[in-house]
Amino acid sequence: MLLHKMRKKLLLGNWKMNKLASEAKEFALASAPFAALAKKNNIEIGVAPTYLSLATVKEFASKDMIVAAQNVHFMDHGAYTGEVSVPMLKEFGIDWVIIGHSERRAYDNETNQKCHDKMKVLFENNMVPVYCVGETLAEFEAGQTKAVVGRQVREGLADFSADDVKRLVVAYEPVWSIGTGKNASSEIAEDICGFVRETLRDMFGSVADEIRVLYGGSVKPVNVKEYLSCPNVDGALVGGASLKIESFEELLTNIL
Ligand code: PGA
Repeated sequence: MLLHKMRKKLLLGNWKMNKLASEAKEFALASAPFAALAKKNNIEIGVAPTYLSLATVKEFASKDMIVAAQNVHFMDHGAYTGEVSVPMLKEFGIDWVIIGHSERRAYDNETNQKCHDKMKVLFENNMVPVYCVGETLAEFEAGQTKAVVGRQVREGLADFSADDVKRLVVAYEPVWSIGTGKNASSEIAEDICGFVRETLRDMFGSVADEIRVLYGGSVKPVNVKEYLSCPNVDGALVGGASLKIESFEELLTNIL
């Protein structure tokens, strides 16, 4: 319980393929008051805009807001049409990257191995991966959640050191709950986030108590507190409810 309190709560908005740069700027410009409120309450907040809005949000948002990319390539540069590399993100001061979101796993063939390769480069550059794991509806119904999530954690993070993973954030997002309004119960969230932590402890030892494990999937202002009251849930990765500034602000004020 004491260790749990050491982990700073984290509220991260994943904007996916939403918002023009002009809209992202508007959000960024309005972020100062609630970023200050979050800081005062020892909560970290951030957003992950599209690549095209990263520089704008980084420039105009409160310096207390984390600005994360939604993806990255594992090579520095080269003939990889359509990709963006770590040095390109770093040039704009972007240190956080979402890795292995279920939409990328489903539509862009993002495997555990690819996630691993990307996180390797992030760790080498002292950056923070937000590694997404979670089972599909069919896997959930077949009772395979822990087998699937355990494999995603073990394969994605294979061979890293305890020192590497101290910067890691993991997000448990059941695929069946993402964008569907069918959020997992807080009991499921606690059970699987706890299981993720046990797996991390088995792999890396006591550093597992410092790694933040988030829940994601239809998190809204009305249910956010329930999740964050769970001992093993250290925050939330939020899609739809992070898009409007009022709703983002409400997510924060509801966990104070
Ligand atoms: P959602 O998305 O909150 O819209 O369900 C969550 C996510 O994909 O991170």
